[in-house]
Amino acid sequence: MAWGACIAALLLLLLLAAAGGNNGGVHCLEQGSRGRSRRALQGRHHLRSRAVGGATVLELRHHSFSSAAPSKSSREEDAAALLSSDAARVASLQRRIHNYKLIGSSSSNDAAASKAQVPVTSGAKLRTLNYVATVGLGGGEATVIVDTASELTWVQCAPCESCHDQQDPLFDPTSSPSYAPVPCNSSPCDALPGGTSAAACGGAACSYTLSYRDGSYSRGVLARDKLSLAGEAVDGFVFGCGTSNQGAPFGGTSGLMGLGRSQLSLVSQTMDQFGGVFSYCLPLKDSSGSSGSLVLGDDSSVYKNSTPIAYASMVSSSDNPLQSGPFYFLNLTGIAVGGQDVLGGSSAAGNGNKVIVDSGTVITSLAPSVYNAVKAEFVSQLAEYPPAPGFSILDTCFNMTGLREVQVPGVKLVFDGGVEVEVDPSGVLYFVSSDASQVCLAMAALGSEDETSIIGNYQQKNLRVIFDTQASQVGFAQETCGYI
Ligand SMILES: *[C@@H]1O[C@H](CO)[C@@H](O)[C@H](O)[C@H]1NC(C)=O
Ligand SMILES: *[C@@H]1O[C@H](CO)[C@@H](O)[C@H](O)[C@H]1NC(C)=O
Repeated sequence: MAWGACIAALLLLLLLAAAGGNNGGVHCLEQGSRGRSRRALQGRHHLRSRAVGGATVLELRHHSFSSAAPSKSSREEDAAALLSSDAARVASLQRRIHNYKLIGSSSSNDAAASKAQVPVTSGAKLRTLNYVATVGLGGGEATVIVDTASELTWVQCAPCESCHDQQDPLFDPTSSPSYAPVPCNSSPCDALPGGTSAAACGGAACSYTLSYRDGSYSRGVLARDKLSLAGEAVDGFVFGCGTSNQGAPFGGTSGLMGLGRSQLSLVSQTMDQFGGVFSYCLPLKDSSGSSGSLVLGDDSSVYKNSTPIAYASMVSSSDNPLQSGPFYFLNLTGIAVGGQDVLGGSSAAGNGNKVIVDSGTVITSLAPSVYNAVKAEFVSQLAEYPPAPGFSILDTCFNMTGLREVQVPGVKLVFDGGVEVEVDPSGVLYFVSSDASQVCLAMAALGSEDETSIIGNYQQKNLRVIFDTQASQVGFAQETCGYI
């Protein structure tokens, strides 16, 4: 019943948006916890894929692996784990961005490269922070986490020295005639930060180590095999064959798909097929069974966007493009809260603020000055609601117990060139507790002004986000996600 009201309210909101008065949203406060018992079923769900015209469409879902024993942790504990792991990822990304700047500015790559191992994600204890898709590899299938900040795709490989549980059968090199290890004196090995250095190479295979902030990791050898994306074959695809893998975030998956802007990423390796373009639509988490899509290729006829696509130019992390690593940087020039421009062109972001668009970070993290401006406007517009204590990295919280609907100020991100991106109403607030006694602005402040802001996936829901590595631009349009 309340859902009906909420849907009606959202429809009204859409009408208002269409009429140009898009300054706020109505958020439903009936976010139940009815999904838990369905997790096991979702785990067995087979992700779909298909080829259409010039594009390949892979179904995207929340990574909702549940281990054999059902979790007894409360919603709050889940949320605390999610947010602290998210903070760890943000910290880890800062370190990597910094390392890439060192690589770019150093005449000798070796020193920087040897310490630039490739931490891909945080040590998440919670398994829901990322999105997964299924690809074919060798003769089998692999369900992998989709990460735009990673340069390498890897899967768990037999014989496992140490592997986490996964739903698909383990990749076994011996049963794939098209499998071949990559030697260490080769360009793929050289392209991998943290790959075996030529000096350490005993003529053997190129080894890799991806290390994570909490001590989890994937280790193994670089290899080639046939990758299949909805029937589209990519021969000799370079990936990490991980025989030693540890880390709760990966539980249930076969590994990770690296969609970064770098030489070994899936985007670069499929340049001939897909022209260096991919896009996604990240579904809402709480509607059970919801799915979105990862589209490889630039055939926009498969998108279901409801607004025109607006493209923002990518920028480098510094004057030297080599220093950007795999990351997708945009120039954030403004943020509006409830139609109010909170930056006014004067503060840091008013003059442009380099931000990363990331599929693997949940909560958007902003430079403290920018965050404080957003927070101040948000607090003033929600002044009628009693404040609630902060929660983890979220410090702008309200007690909305007993309310069935709340007018939520709309949040709009503005990128250089006047590209405006309206955040979906579901991406503005984070519900810590199911009784709505702690509802927080779903954004956080970085530790310092020098760090790099990150647009997280919570704020990218129900958007078509298009990464065009050839034209160096990222496009945005509103879209109600589904497997299209
Ligand atoms: C970011 O945008 C601002 C405002 O248009 C501009 O002054 C600045 O040069 C841009 N920065 C980059 C790196 O493009
Ligand atoms: C939230 O408000 C309700 C009633 O308005 C109150 O009973 C409850 O203690 C408050 N909770 C918090 C965490 O402030």
